[in-house]
Amino acid sequence: MTQDELKQAVARAAIAYVVDGEIIGVGTGSTANFFIDELATIKDRIKGTVASSEATAARLRGHGIAVYDLNDVTGIAVYIDGADEITASGAMIKGGGAALTREKIVASVSRQFVCIADGSKLVQTMGAFALPVEVLPMARTAVMRRLAALGGQPRLRLKPGTEQAFITDNGGEIIDVAGLSITDPVALEQEINQIVGVIAVGLFAQRGADVCLLGTSEGVKTLTF
Ligand code: 5RP
Repeated sequence: MTQDELKQAVARAAIAYVVDGEIIGVGTGSTANFFIDELATIKDRIKGTVASSEATAARLRGHGIAVYDLNDVTGIAVYIDGADEITASGAMIKGGGAALTREKIVASVSRQFVCIADGSKLVQTMGAFALPVEVLPMARTAVMRRLAALGGQPRLRLKPGTEQAFITDNGGEIIDVAGLSITDPVALEQEINQIVGVIAVGLFAQRGADVCLLGTSEGVKTLTF
């Protein structure tokens, strides 16, 4: 199976976690896009969604699915999203698609987090994928110095094909930190959160996934944490 077929398979399997009549939190990225397309086939069963990015909101609306502002809902039954890396205990690196801050906010108010990922995302120790950190632009260099002191190699994410900084939905910039071997993800998440100027770090360890649907050539495996 191709990677896209694996992503599609987990997106389809995630429909079983959608709670009828409820608000569903929807992630960002290629796996989440497959999920949105599946969700469209049962859109009349849900009340609506909260989106983790402008791109996701646009795709949901394109399917005629209601998108609510998080401030207008009292709770989210389940949050369904992909990951760049996930460990056997449900900690993740996210933010390859630059939506980490809103993803973290929506995940934090969701009763259940279902991660959907192809098998290549399961790792023993996170860090081969450069860790995304969203920062306020004025703090960029100061934060990069602090991240380098933690042993990483921070690099400003650029808009593809340009020398300009990539700007997030929130007006922030992304620093991708390579070279970290993340043996204690909860501690590192806390440490990076405390750097002044950081908006959010793409480590989802304090609030990790509750379930991971992992796409493998033998079928969709369900990991529960
Ligand atoms: C976006 C994310 C994505 O979930 C992550 O990058 C995985 O993306 P994909 O499903 O395209 O592999 O965190 O900010």
